[in-house]
Amino acid sequence: EREKTLAMVKPDGVLGNYTDEIKRVILESGFNIFKEKISQLDEEQTATFYAEHYSKSFFSSLIKYMTRSESSGEAMEDSVVSVDEKGGGGKGGLVSIGPVLVMVLEKENAVADWRALIGPTDARKAKNTHPHSIRAMCGLDSEKNCVHGSDSLQSAQREISFFFNEMSSG
Ligand code: CMP
Repeated sequence: EREKTLAMVKPDGVLGNYTDEIKRVILESGFNIFKEKISQLDEEQTATFYAEHYSKSFFSSLIKYMTRSESSGEAMEDSVVSVDEKGGGGKGGLVSIGPVLVMVLEKENAVADWRALIGPTDARKAKNTHPHSIRAMCGLDSEKNCVHGSDSLQSAQREISFFFNEMSSG
């Protein structure tokens, strides 16, 4: 059965110029790129997208990585998910410079096949055990792993809706 899944090239992948190579692998692997767009996530959107990881120790680091939030003033701790601190331009205001490329991929068994193609979450492990995976190609470690893939059909529908405001059925 044809499925849709959400693929994302994270800021390290986009800024490292891996986008063309990743799209080439996607097309060679039989996926149709049904939709695509460049997006810039803010801290709040990233927290919503990754809500299931809210209680994890790496959550605030994940938010910083995905938004590439940088303090424009004096270093401030625990300010990354604070809406109040965004865009003020004043001391401690945050500037986001982390573009992501999001794509809806379409194929038979798209969810599982995209997950297989990107490899394990930890890119260091990917380099050892899945040397031909996308994360082995462009990822760095368990956080900076270059790409994202929906982990289930249900997640795919939620994530596609999050970025494209539509369900993946049909
Ligand atoms: P992703 O597959 O997009 O889903 C959740 C993200 O959290 C994951 O990729 C990584 O970017 C990040 N992540 C997962 N596990 C860890 C970890 N142990 N340490 C730091 N970041 C992680």
